Amino acid sequence: MDRTFVMIKPDGVQRGLIGEVVSRFEGKGLKMIGAKLELLPEERVVEQYREHLGKPFFPGLKQYIMSGPCFLMVWEGRDVVPVVRRIVGATDPAEAEPGSIRGDLALDIGRNVIHASDSPESARREIGIHFRPSELVGYTRIDEAVLYE
Ligand code: RTP
Ligand code: MG
Repeated sequence: MDRTFVMIKPDGVQRGLIGEVVSRFEGKGLKMIGAKLELLPEERVVEQYREHLGKPFFPGLKQYIMSGPCFLMVWEGRDVVPVVRRIVGATDPAEAEPGSIRGDLALDIGRNVIHASDSPESARREIGIHFRPSELVGYTRIDEAVLYE
């Protein structure tokens, strides 16, 4: 099964949106196989967002991600990377579709509640940055028998 890395950013944690976000993915039928609340060290923030190093918004992005606890998760399911990106919505919440997390729950590109990996390669890389293999739990969810054809 495919895996992706998802992280509720400090604004989402402070606004009490962990449960709301988790329930959207659970309702879709995706399976959470790892989760933790953490204040991220600078090295892991830089590693996660290394494609944006040098961009004008990078210092503000780094400061924001390190401003409080983040809720980190790994989710599993068929085509989970694109499925989760659609549930998350466009980067700029002002352009995100209603019904998406950013479309429903955010207003500002610099405070857009959630991160999700943008490709299977990014997912593998980002899971490796934030989770040890022993922190991921393999199990069968009882509803899997009826979720997939
Ligand atoms: P993310 O990586 O956090 O899931 O977001 P994304 O793929 O939708 O967007 P990306 O282009 O990777 O940008 C990473 C995060 O940087 C902030 N950002 N600010 N002010 C700006 O122009 C700007 N552009 C990007 C956002 O918080 C975005 O989620
Ligand atoms: Mg991104």
